[in-house]
Amino acid sequence: MSISLIILAAGKGTRMNSDLPKVLHPIGGAPMLHHAMQSGAALSPDNIVIVAGHGADQVRKSALEYDETAQIVLQQDQLGTGHAVYQARDTLKDVDGKIIVLYGDTPFIRQETLEKMVAAESDLVVLGFEAADPARYGRLIHDGDRLDRIVEFKDASDEERAVNLCNSGVMSGDARLMLDLVKALGNDNAAGEYYLTDLPALAKARGFTTSIVICDEAETIGIDSRVALAKAETMFQTSARTELLENGVTLQAPDSVFLSLDTHIGRDTLIEPNVIFGPGVTVESGATIRAFSHLEGCHVARGSVVGPYARLRPGAELAENTRIGNFVEIKNAQINEGAKVNHLSYIGDAHVGEASNIGAGTITCNYDGVMKHHTDIGAGVFVGSNTMLVAPVSVGDGAMTASGSVITSDVEPNALAIARAPQVEKSGMAKKLMEMLRAKKARRSRGN
Ligand code: UD1
Repeated sequence: MSISLIILAAGKGTRMNSDLPKVLHPIGGAPMLHHAMQSGAALSPDNIVIVAGHGADQVRKSALEYDETAQIVLQQDQLGTGHAVYQARDTLKDVDGKIIVLYGDTPFIRQETLEKMVAAESDLVVLGFEAADPARYGRLIHDGDRLDRIVEFKDASDEERAVNLCNSGVMSGDARLMLDLVKALGNDNAAGEYYLTDLPALAKARGFTTSIVICDEAETIGIDSRVALAKAETMFQTSARTELLENGVTLQAPDSVFLSLDTHIGRDTLIEPNVIFGPGVTVESGATIRAFSHLEGCHVARGSVVGPYARLRPGAELAENTRIGNFVEIKNAQINEGAKVNHLSYIGDAHVGEASNIGAGTITCNYDGVMKHHTDIGAGVFVGSNTMLVAPVSVGDGAMTASGSVITSDVEPNALAIARAPQVEKSGMAKKLMEMLRAKKARRSRGN
């Protein structure tokens, strides 16, 4: 069956007190809009329509980054949720099957919940939840799982407000029916808005069937303030950590490990305390990420050990069984199988060949102040401690650099490159120098 998603993302989010459109605020390193897109993507939709308004250009860019097939429609004025859905009418004018309406600021709707909604037999399905504190939510006026109508809090009588079953906002149904009904909506209500919530009553009046699917309240949390955003982050982290643990990853101190929406970690990997996974990280099985490491946009293959205190930046590609030690930064660099960069180094815009050893304090000098340049280190190379590799430069297979060298030209395979001032030794000079200095100090303390 064809599925079309409509994700509402036009609201301003005034309470966020921000220049960034609300739906672009991140949770787990990804805009909350991407969370909603990911929930819906699990149903393999044929169409994804994002209704944008405030900050539409930024919202468009972000939506397309997640899915380049997404279609963005503009809602110039925010006249209500029904009006927002109506903006998708031209884009979806030829579609059949079902429409699901999601919200860019409601990031935690589960795939299973959406599957239940799609599987429901009625013409229109609303996602409801039992609210611990129903507050200002719309109420579902129902008879068992048959939905009669939705009443917005503002328009509800005391009796209706006493109903505990609330509207999450998520709705699905027959595509043609929903698009017909949103066209017929009026705005004669307390807010003067075109309410999407009027659809069930309209559908019923025309003889269509309407029903409710119920989910956990935690799925329906909508973000409209920084306080809610912070709570959502905590919820995301808790569930992402639990998922990793269930998938066979060891987290020694789960509460101190921070994950992103797209973090992938293979089983039997060990994560020590205080590790941060920014966006775009994949760690294969059987790796170890030691304490206080920071990873983003990188790939760590099986059996590698990273940290403690390592920083892997975008484009860091570690092959199997590599060792990246303390105070090492790797950026846009491939580290081949079995290579070691164990201490205090910066390896950027580089390639390190198989089983090479990079000594402590090695720097690839990749930036000349204007452009970035590449360093190519072959296989089985021994780079001596405190070597500066001034890029562009290459070190051939099996070569060595003497510690303290500043390497400015290519080193041929199996050669030893020494690029430092030769040592000069002056016999007895240290002793003489010390005596001179002590005598000088004594004269000063006598005042002459
Ligand atoms: C809506 C529901 C309410 C439900 C609640 C759950 C309606 C009329 N009410 O109320 O029953 O309990 O969600 O959170 O649907 N938006 C647009 N364009 C618009 C208006 C809204 O894109 O013209 C977007 C907003 O950015 C927001 C979402 O739709 O993300 C919800 O809109 P909002 O007006 O905040 O509805 P609620 O008052 O939360």
